[in-house]
Amino acid sequence: MTKIVLTGAAGRLGSYLREPLLALCDELVSTDIVEDIGKLYPRETYVKADLARMDQIAPLMEGADMVVHFGAIVDEKPFEELLGPNFIGSYNVWEAGYKAGVRRIVYASSIHAVGMHLKSEFIGTDAEHRPDTFYGLAKCFTEDLGRMYWDKRGMESVHLRILSCAQVNNTRALGSWLSYTDLIQLVTRAIDTPSVGFAIIYGVSNNDRAPVDNSKASFLGYRPVDNAEIFAAQLLAEETTVDTSDPGQMCQGGPFAKVDLGQSGLAQMNVVNDKKEI
Ligand SMILES: NC(=O)c1ccc[n+]([C@@H]2O[C@H](COP(=O)([O-])OP(=O)(O)OC[C@H]3O[C@@H](n4cnc5c(N)ncnc54)[C@H](O)[C@@H]3O)[C@@H](O)[C@H]2O)c1
Repeated sequence: MTKIVLTGAAGRLGSYLREPLLALCDELVSTDIVEDIGKLYPRETYVKADLARMDQIAPLMEGADMVVHFGAIVDEKPFEELLGPNFIGSYNVWEAGYKAGVRRIVYASSIHAVGMHLKSEFIGTDAEHRPDTFYGLAKCFTEDLGRMYWDKRGMESVHLRILSCAQVNNTRALGSWLSYTDLIQLVTRAIDTPSVGFAIIYGVSNNDRAPVDNSKASFLGYRPVDNAEIFAAQLLAEETTVDTSDPGQMCQGGPFAKVDLGQSGLAQMNVVNDKKEI
């Protein structure tokens, strides 16, 4: 592959993807809204661009084979704040990608697209959209956008419904954890599978307590190796309150299923920013 574009390159997940993506292409164009991302890998360039601005996104797509679209505001916010980066930003990536002849987009969707489903339902990749927030609604919008560009224009996309790719420090994560090792495998399979059409897959490790079913995405060849069960004994001993009327405990979206629309979900969580440094 000649060129891959990575959006959200300054973010936490982006920091773990840059090096493995370079192994798959001649040239990696990393982009984000921040001024710069510091040291670059060989064959990597950085371009500052706002996802909400078509005039800044379109030039990045020239000559690109694939886009790995991870840029977004990553929390629940008032709709107006998400509209530019998370909704219009997705449209800009798809439309500019299509015009430039991009073959495939690999998108960081989220469990929050289906966050109001109960964990006990063990939903598959064909579960109906049940967003828990405006943030989740933007993921639903982008999944539908991807489906439409495949149906109408033949542009492929793989939508990675990531559960929680962060250090395991709560009992929800015993089911929802996606390790960085498995994230890299997931993105690699989404890129190197010869034909994908429109596909959805959950981004989750091989956890004993995973609350979702990836069997219909088996053709992508994603076989996660890590299992959050190694953290179970300690976390279960620490966390004692169980409230079956609490959507934050019962629903796929966890704290996002509980917060009011427009209110931060991340504020209820303790996400460690262990970004990878070069
Ligand atoms: N971390 C998780 O557990 C998780 C779970 C589900 C989905 N995701 C998705 O994965 C992706 C990456 O998440 P992350 O945890 O690395 O978050 P992050 O906040 O660390 O990274 C997101 C990046 O997007 C950039 N960005 C924001 N607005 C932008 C704009 N207008 N133009 C260009 N860039 C902009 C930010 O500067 C940031 O560097 C996101 O799309 C997120 O929704 C993450």
